[in-house]
Amino acid sequence: MTFASVLVLNGPNLNLLGTREPAIYGRETLADVARRCAQAGERLGLAVDFRQSNAEHQLIDWLHDARERIDGIVINPAAYTHTSVALADALSAIAKPVIEVHISNVHKREAFRHHSYVSPIAEAIIVGCGTQGYVLALERMAVLLDKGTEQ
Ligand code: DQA
Repeated sequence: MTFASVLVLNGPNLNLLGTREPAIYGRETLADVARRCAQAGERLGLAVDFRQSNAEHQLIDWLHDARERIDGIVINPAAYTHTSVALADALSAIAKPVIEVHISNVHKREAFRHHSYVSPIAEAIIVGCGTQGYVLALERMAVLLDKGTEQ
């Protein structure tokens, strides 16, 4: 099987998953999420490159580096969702499908979390599905990249 490449990017504070506000984000660690994404990738025919950074410039540099190499992007931009025009511009500069993921239902939370600079660029947005949202995003990405069966 030829594997399409998907970059799964995680923004600030997601390295603390599992211990950070578990009532909101659950008990699974980022390493658990990375493992689930790798397993989903195997099943779906996607090579998953899973990364996290607390630094806006690092996320942007990774996007620039991946520009020619990857077929799609799954991103949980975390707090940069609500603040970063620069990250949104970097995503716009890449003509590849983007799926935005949020572990929590941001619309049930503070008003400042209701706006996303990334959503207007995204093909799909998955919120409030917990860490399962990453797997759902990869399943949808497989369809968008013509690896899946459903449209
Ligand atoms: C988050 C929601 C954001 O508002 C928050 O800043 C995060 C995580 C989520 O996955 O639910 O860090 O993106």
